[in-house]
Amino acid sequence: MAENTEHVETSRDQDINPWSVEGGRDEAGNAVSIDYEALAKKWNTSLIDQALLDRFERVTGHKPHRWLRRGLFFSHRDFDRILTKKEKGEPFFLYTGRGPSSGSLHLGHTIPLTFTKWLQDVFDVPLVFMLTDDEKALFKDSLTFEETMHFAMENAKDIIALGFDLKKTFIYSDLKYISNHFLMNAWEFSKLVTFNQVRGAFGFNESTNVGRIFFPTVQCVAAFATSYPEIWTDEPQTERKKSIAEIQCLIPMGIDQDPYFRLLRDNAHKMKYPSPKPALIHSKFLTALQGAGGKMSSSEPNSAIFMTDTPKQIKTKINKYAFSGGQVSVEDHRRLGGNPDVDVSYIYLTYFEDDDAKLDEIYRSYKSGELLTGELKSMAIKKLQDYVAEFQERRKEVSDEVLEKYMTPRRLEWGGTAQPKIK
Ligand code: TRP
Repeated sequence: MAENTEHVETSRDQDINPWSVEGGRDEAGNAVSIDYEALAKKWNTSLIDQALLDRFERVTGHKPHRWLRRGLFFSHRDFDRILTKKEKGEPFFLYTGRGPSSGSLHLGHTIPLTFTKWLQDVFDVPLVFMLTDDEKALFKDSLTFEETMHFAMENAKDIIALGFDLKKTFIYSDLKYISNHFLMNAWEFSKLVTFNQVRGAFGFNESTNVGRIFFPTVQCVAAFATSYPEIWTDEPQTERKKSIAEIQCLIPMGIDQDPYFRLLRDNAHKMKYPSPKPALIHSKFLTALQGAGGKMSSSEPNSAIFMTDTPKQIKTKINKYAFSGGQVSVEDHRRLGGNPDVDVSYIYLTYFEDDDAKLDEIYRSYKSGELLTGELKSMAIKKLQDYVAEFQERRKEVSDEVLEKYMTPRRLEWGGTAQPKIK
């Protein structure tokens, strides 16, 4: 137990890495919101601006998703190059992943994935979906490889329930799938990367197990088109091909995953068959029910809405735990108004209310005190109940046979770009 309990908390910088996300603290030790612009600056990513969104709309003919319009996907690397590919009709593909650390998803997990599904619809291109059951067993001492592989299968069913198109989607467990060209890519890439580079990117030390040190290679080379020879052509490929390596990849992800892909972008051109630097698009984290500085976490059940929650559980969690920017009494609220910027129910509405004008009106009326906390909470409850219920309906349809189809390596079919010419 801490002996020095009088010790006054001092300020702390935010600490964001692939294994933990901690917001900063102010002088008094209070949690402050994550400063995403500072992070983008520190990591040297580009912020998504209106010009990029306008170009996106011109190129795709689609209005940008509300998560783009509202800056919830806020940063990128080379996303503009993907738009150029789309414009020219040149092939590219999507890659994303999930670490199967538990049997089911919470709402926060679904955000980058739902966004990926939207990108797949808009771009009409193939998607490869990696389940890192190897990573989760390596990084969590309490989990065995059998357990994480089992979670991977359960998670895959949830992922399918988000609506990915079977024809264009290949989902795989690392423990089951990685072999052949994928494995060769991993070894070749590992030869290009030193311990110093990995330590720099991930903070490892001499006592880190060697599995953890090698694993980043695996997550990286999943962005090489040659890792999946089957998805591009029916003809068996005995060797990796230069023309396949040249297909660029776009990776949607939470910003915490960026360190992996910096490593990749720094080394992709050194492969025998070089690949273009993958493009990245980064999301913010869905705020925990408790508000500022935290993200939803499976290990803290009261911080998260789970995709298995009943309508009643959702209602109770929002009413009981969702941090409120309202005043303590109705009289004060009417007089002083609320603070939507820190209000978790309002923040959730920014994710799930599509109508911009309606959202603006909610913001204005909450701030002025016309709209009460209870009313705001019930709007958020309704939106979340609908999103989760629709998910649960689709989840019921995902049988073992359906799962098997998505997880079978096979030629994918898409219409949004030309087919690659394989030489
Ligand atoms: N490491 C990620 C996690 O723990 C899983 C992952 C693998 C991933 N490849 C990815 C996430 C690509 C985003 C993009 O969740």
